[in-house]
Amino acid sequence: MPAINEVTNLEIESNIAVLTLNSPPVNALSANVREGLHVGVKQAIEDEDTKAIVLICEGRTFIAGADITEFGQAPKGPSLFEVQDMIEDSPKPVISAIHGTALGGGLEVALTCHYRIAVPSARCGLPEVNLGLLPGAGGTQRLPRIVGAQKALQMVTSGQHVPAKQCLEMGLVDELANEENLLADAIKFATTIVEEKRPLVKVRDNEENIKADKGNDTLFTDFRKSIARRTRGFLAPEYNIQCIEAAVNKSFEEGLKVERDLFTKLVTGTQSAAQRYVFFSERQVNKIPDIPRETEVSEINSVGVIGAGTMGGGISMNFANVGIPVTIVEQNQERLDKGLAVIRKNYENTANKGRISMEDVETRMGLITGELSVESLNTQDLIIEAVFENMKLKKEIFNKLDGIAKQGAILASNTSALNVNEIAAETKRPEDVIGLHFFSPANVMRLLEIVRGEKTSKSVVASSMSIAKRIGKIAAVVGVCPGFVGNRILAQRQREANKLILEGALPWDIDDALFDFGFPMGPFAMSDLAGLDIGWSKETSKGETLRDVLCEAGRLGQKSGKGFYLYDENRVKSPDPEVEAIIRDFAEARQIRLRDISKEEILERCLYPMINEGFKILEEGMAIRASDIDIVWINGYGWPVYEGGPMFYGSLVGFDKVLDWLNKMEKELGPEFAPSPYLEKVVKENINIFA
Ligand code: CAA
Repeated sequence: MPAINEVTNLEIESNIAVLTLNSPPVNALSANVREGLHVGVKQAIEDEDTKAIVLICEGRTFIAGADITEFGQAPKGPSLFEVQDMIEDSPKPVISAIHGTALGGGLEVALTCHYRIAVPSARCGLPEVNLGLLPGAGGTQRLPRIVGAQKALQMVTSGQHVPAKQCLEMGLVDELANEENLLADAIKFATTIVEEKRPLVKVRDNEENIKADKGNDTLFTDFRKSIARRTRGFLAPEYNIQCIEAAVNKSFEEGLKVERDLFTKLVTGTQSAAQRYVFFSERQVNKIPDIPRETEVSEINSVGVIGAGTMGGGISMNFANVGIPVTIVEQNQERLDKGLAVIRKNYENTANKGRISMEDVETRMGLITGELSVESLNTQDLIIEAVFENMKLKKEIFNKLDGIAKQGAILASNTSALNVNEIAAETKRPEDVIGLHFFSPANVMRLLEIVRGEKTSKSVVASSMSIAKRIGKIAAVVGVCPGFVGNRILAQRQREANKLILEGALPWDIDDALFDFGFPMGPFAMSDLAGLDIGWSKETSKGETLRDVLCEAGRLGQKSGKGFYLYDENRVKSPDPEVEAIIRDFAEARQIRLRDISKEEILERCLYPMINEGFKILEEGMAIRASDIDIVWINGYGWPVYEGGPMFYGSLVGFDKVLDWLNKMEKELGPEFAPSPYLEKVVKENINIFA
């Protein structure tokens, strides 16, 4: 095939030019691809025999967007706009032939083509919002001109990948091709267009679908309200909306200008930098340096779960959701029945929201079997222990399991902090033992910490990564240390939050500061939700801590209507003067002088020690890379994506500033602030921890 360049070929078949891109893995619009498109379309236009041009891609997908790795670099080769102008102004029809995904810049290129054909499995979307961006190549102006403002708003603010059949209904795609015959069908479609002398459709000129919404401010106000909760703190959704508003109310050229200005603001801002970093970090986290991709993984076709409590139940649902049978073991019938009833209720709630059918509920429940003896776990490929956090109990279970589980089964503990090596040592097969730390609610939270023990085999780690992917989790491999990565860092924040209350900040001051930073909830609202009496007992309570005093006063959290906050009948919280008085009295009795504490100080006190702990974790090799720590905190603890996670946030603040602060605090407040030697080294030698 005649090559335009190393990623583009042009071939002419019975008057139809076929321009093929082949730039793995996803045909992103790198400088080479843009060059190939520009030159290829130009040559086809100039070729006398060519009557129409088909644009198609090799590999797994159509163009999946701009090449994100090029952002921030000096522009090379033709710009995307030049490519688009070349296509849109072509005197010969250009048809894009779509398979896989046409995303972002990819769909924007397709939208400058005069026609689009796609296989039924293809999907189209403008997912830039998920990278903290907006479609910067006319997408926000052309999309509503086909699908109308309402659908365009939904697409650009959700980033949703719309299936081809729906695209056909919306007019985003003109024809569906046979799944196996895209090229042939695209050529046929192009030939028909030529024969029927169909017009050169320029989406930019189509005012039909937007004119009804001109001046319709309510549409936009209502839409903003409908997504406000989900998009709190993010800039990109609002900027995307402003672009669609401009598309509806301004000329195409003016709208493009609005799009360009807002795109520039986003692409140069920290939110998008953080979100792009998270995109690549989510892919990096799957790579374990000493475990090659081709490592043998064992197939997991059946799972055993020990414990039908909240964790055990949630964990079981993950597997039933993807069709894997689960056996749950509980100590007695009552607990087992209760656990199974909770699972059923959860599924029914999901069905009531329309997310699954009642038939799905029954199918999934049918995959879950309850048993009363661990002896029944003798055939499963993976067994997960999810009993409460008690080392003695866990050891007993693993000791017993060793004699029951089939050879080759993976034996996992859902411990959130205990030593997996110690647990593994209870068996004669420590290489098969691993920690699989799910986060509550386990059927909802995306994170899975995979705790690699000293003796865990590579194949067991790889198999755990593989099953995590199958059940839709994002898994981070971590080492054995108290609290692993997530809870170890959480302990820092918790300690400082508790201390701050006895220095003068009120629980809601701290929660508000963290909520405004972007966390879904602050530590005290979280404690109220979990219950203040976890690990507390009336008999032994000596009123030594603030928590003791609150529990003694019957303030056990949400369940008792009051804890750090007061709750109304709808569980809506409000600050409580009684708590303020309790704190004041508690401090007075200990001769502690309370002072005013600013929001800025609260954030520093809560967040900087977390960054420091992250460095200690890296120093000890308990996380593979800095970005894995961020992935843990974003997916397990609600760190706002647009702040990139504790390590990325630390880099935004400046590691030198964090170090200076820690040194100062160590002198003023004590050794818990002593900086990690690795942080000192990073600052001194200006090391890029994300490289
Ligand atoms: N630029 C650069 N690299 C990209 C990329 C892009 N747009 N999209 C994916 N990649 C890379 C990934 O980093 C990954 O690399 P490694 O194998 O080295 O880790 C590789 O391609 C494969 O990606 P996935 O593992 O994600 O593969 P998948 O098959 O699971 O998913 C996908 C494919 C749906 C296309 C997914 O990669 C994706 O959603 N990509 C991003 C799409 C996107 O956001 N496009 C908009 C870009 S911004 C834009 O276009 C601005 C504009 O208006 C001009």
